[in-house]
Amino acid sequence: MPVDRTPVIAGNWKMNCTGPEALVLVRELITAIGDHDGVEVVVAPPFTALSAVAPELEATEIGLAGQTMHWEPDGAFTGEISAPMLLAAEAGWVILGHSERRMLFGETDEALAKKVPAALEAGLIPILCVGESEAEREAGKTHDVLKTQIEDDLAGVDPARIPDVVVAYEPVWAIGTGKTASAEMAQEAIEFIRAVLAERDPAAAERVRILYGGSMKAANAAELLAQPDLDGGLIGGASLVADDFAAIVEAARR
Ligand code: PGA
Repeated sequence: MPVDRTPVIAGNWKMNCTGPEALVLVRELITAIGDHDGVEVVVAPPFTALSAVAPELEATEIGLAGQTMHWEPDGAFTGEISAPMLLAAEAGWVILGHSERRMLFGETDEALAKKVPAALEAGLIPILCVGESEAEREAGKTHDVLKTQIEDDLAGVDPARIPDVVVAYEPVWAIGTGKTASAEMAQEAIEFIRAVLAERDPAAAERVRILYGGSMKAANAAELLAQPDLDGGLIGGASLVADDFAAIVEAARR
């Protein structure tokens, strides 16, 4: 009997939207998405827009996420945000290890090995992003990269808690480029990630949700989401257009 994994569609707004702009977008999204039974929907505005968005989501089932966090609860870490701060801003989720954080801001697997357990212990659902660069794929290193990221970033997570983590497979070459992994490519990589997790705990690996991210849009969502191991999407560009994001949520409904 296959395990039922509720799909997740998460919108990563990145460095877009002031508070007032976020308010307009979230209202449009709520209207466009409407009923989304059977799909967990999450939006990740910039930190400065969380307080504008949170009250709008109160009467909905849409979750709120931060885009990154520090592993310590407080301290002398200028510019950082902690798990208790996200929780107090009514976020229930946090994106960790996004490739833009890894590549542009030096986020390491070592840091993620502290951040993922810290998020879980605080009561946040981490969305852990992993993925290979174009050069790594061309050099045949995709599996090595994914295995290292998954093993290192989740090293401090008790196997019993692995199903509480959401993983996002985001090939770096597909992010914001308009190039999407083919459905077969995404399925193959995600199946591999599940197999790596199964080495730690087969039952947990069956339950963990693994999303695809990288130029997912209304036009390609249904084909990607039809893949057996693909449990949803992490959406960048298309999450800023209410009708496009709503169409992806619709494609995830079964
Ligand atoms: P994209 O971004 O959908 O704009 O490619 C995806 C992501 O970075 O999560």
